[in-house]
Amino acid sequence: MRPIRIAPSILAWDLSDLRGAVEIADQGGAEQVHLDVIDGHFAPNITFGPGTVKALRRRCDLKFDTHLMIDSPQVYVDKFLEAGSDLLSFHAEVLDGTKFDDLYRSVRTKGKEVGLAIKPKTELPKWAAERLDRISTLVVMTVNPGFSGQTMDMTVMPKLKKISGLIESRGLPTDIEIDGGVEPENVQEVVKRGGNVLVAGAGVFGKKDPVKAISVLRKRALQAKSR
Ligand code: DX5
Ligand code: ZN
Repeated sequence: MRPIRIAPSILAWDLSDLRGAVEIADQGGAEQVHLDVIDGHFAPNITFGPGTVKALRRRCDLKFDTHLMIDSPQVYVDKFLEAGSDLLSFHAEVLDGTKFDDLYRSVRTKGKEVGLAIKPKTELPKWAAERLDRISTLVVMTVNPGFSGQTMDMTVMPKLKKISGLIESRGLPTDIEIDGGVEPENVQEVVKRGGNVLVAGAGVFGKKDPVKAISVLRKRALQAKSR
């Protein structure tokens, strides 16, 4: 249940070479590629959209884990599905139960997975706790959305523990994805509190040997799990 998975975030690579980034993820044995979509409204950066996802889809067979840091996911959900995203994570801060249900239907009709993301200071809303069985991945952000290369916010740890406790108590298979500042040095802290999908931007692409960095993270995570 809830195996360790590594999700390199290509935002941290040379943006003129995103094809190279997905190739590194592939060579390093990552299970999925984390694609950060930011619209300049929800968070202070502008990255890429469905066109880029579609172009990368032709170059890579890994699971596309698309993190939508955008104000109006309902406007773009179909575009990202058509582009080839496998998991679409929406932010709880821009949703309510009804909006989530609409997005859920759009994604599930296409047979894809629904994720829900929360910023470091956001608690899991009640409507989301009531719908946990519909969420395949809960993205617990450990930095404020916007940029790669920030330091992990350790004040999120009690919330992470609470969320994994909730998921376990319900016997759900929901993945818990940790997004922001993941490095070999803090992998143990998040894995021991229930995190199992590790997003890593700088923790992979900022290293001298990014392919090897993926296995280093995995090794640390597996060690933490067996403790
Ligand atoms: C932040 C993004 C993260 C980020 C991760 O807005 O959601 O996915 O790119 O990068 P690192 O691992 O460098 O914090
Ligand atoms: Zn992300």
